[in-house]
Amino acid sequence: SQPNPTIFGLPLKYVALVTLAVQNAALSIVMHYSRVSTVRPYSPALAVLMNELIKGSISLVIALWRIQKSNQSHHRPLTTQCSSLSILYTEIFSKDCWKLSIPALLYVIQNTLQFVAISNLPVASFQVMYQMKILTTAAFSVAMLGKRISGAKWLSLLFLALGVGIVQIQTTYMSRSSTSVGSAHDSAPLHIHRMNPVTGFSAVIAACFTSGLAGVYFERELKNSKTDLWVRNVQLSIFSLVPAILPLMWSHASSPTTISDLFDNFGAWAWGTVLAQVFGGLITAIVIKYSDNIMKGFATSLAIILSSLASVFLFDFPITLPFLIGSSTVLVATWMYNQPPGKEPLSIVVNGIS
Ligand code: C5P
Repeated sequence: SQPNPTIFGLPLKYVALVTLAVQNAALSIVMHYSRVSTVRPYSPALAVLMNELIKGSISLVIALWRIQKSNQSHHRPLTTQCSSLSILYTEIFSKDCWKLSIPALLYVIQNTLQFVAISNLPVASFQVMYQMKILTTAAFSVAMLGKRISGAKWLSLLFLALGVGIVQIQTTYMSRSSTSVGSAHDSAPLHIHRMNPVTGFSAVIAACFTSGLAGVYFERELKNSKTDLWVRNVQLSIFSLVPAILPLMWSHASSPTTISDLFDNFGAWAWGTVLAQVFGGLITAIVIKYSDNIMKGFATSLAIILSSLASVFLFDFPITLPFLIGSSTVLVATWMYNQPPGKEPLSIVVNGIS
């Protein structure tokens, strides 16, 4: 089992889950705004590449710091900066490092699809459809990690997706007639960019599959070996570089391009999106290590309720019956999933049938 470290006296596992919930709520809004609020869009391929470069560099520094700390705690006096670097090099380019190339490629595809989806769908619709990744993640966890999910737990996952759907559909509906986070970003004046819902829908469905598969793959490699999380993150970023650079080269193949041409239109909102993604990626890795991908799904569902609730206080968004039903469904599903095996409500009925 995984160790359970604390941060400021609180269990890291729960701090990471809550932080991920807040980050997720913020990312969808910043990313959508960054894409639809301008006639001259920035390059998503460059954003994906910047994300990997920054995330990889941060992980590299943390991995090096951890090696030095471990050397000091083992009182290895001969250890110099140089030998820490060589230990790090050996760990990164270990025999099994190639295994990270698969989730790396999948994540680059997913991060690109996310840009396509969020540029073509309202924030709320994107968030509902993206919740389907709860089900794909559960299915991949069963198939690849041998996780056992009882009939009652499957039912709670279904409730979870349903509850988020109810909250979101009513939020979308209400936001058309009132001032809210949703309306501020879905209203006509900001939609300088023309959206194509079919493209958006296809991209989000494909992203649900890559999210589930990549997350579970990464979890398997992380938990089946002793390699440090931050070394795994560096490997992930290194293998992401090729698939992230290729589309950039492809799109600029016909015209000579300077670095500053590449950064055309890459303004504050684009950088905000990249930084929110970097932060999200690092927190996701911590959540996968100390918890798992399925719990990650619960955290992001709660994020949707949190952001709707915030709009009640910030924008006078009215609390309606569907909102109460949807939120309660999510909360009950969360509680139900976390009951000990066999003790879940309805378990006798559902497990009896399955
Ligand atoms: O939607 P989902 O939760 O699957 O998104 C995960 C995100 O976290 C992706 O953007 C991926 O690039 C990032 N990630 C990461 N490092 C990991 C695992 C995921 O940066 N170790």
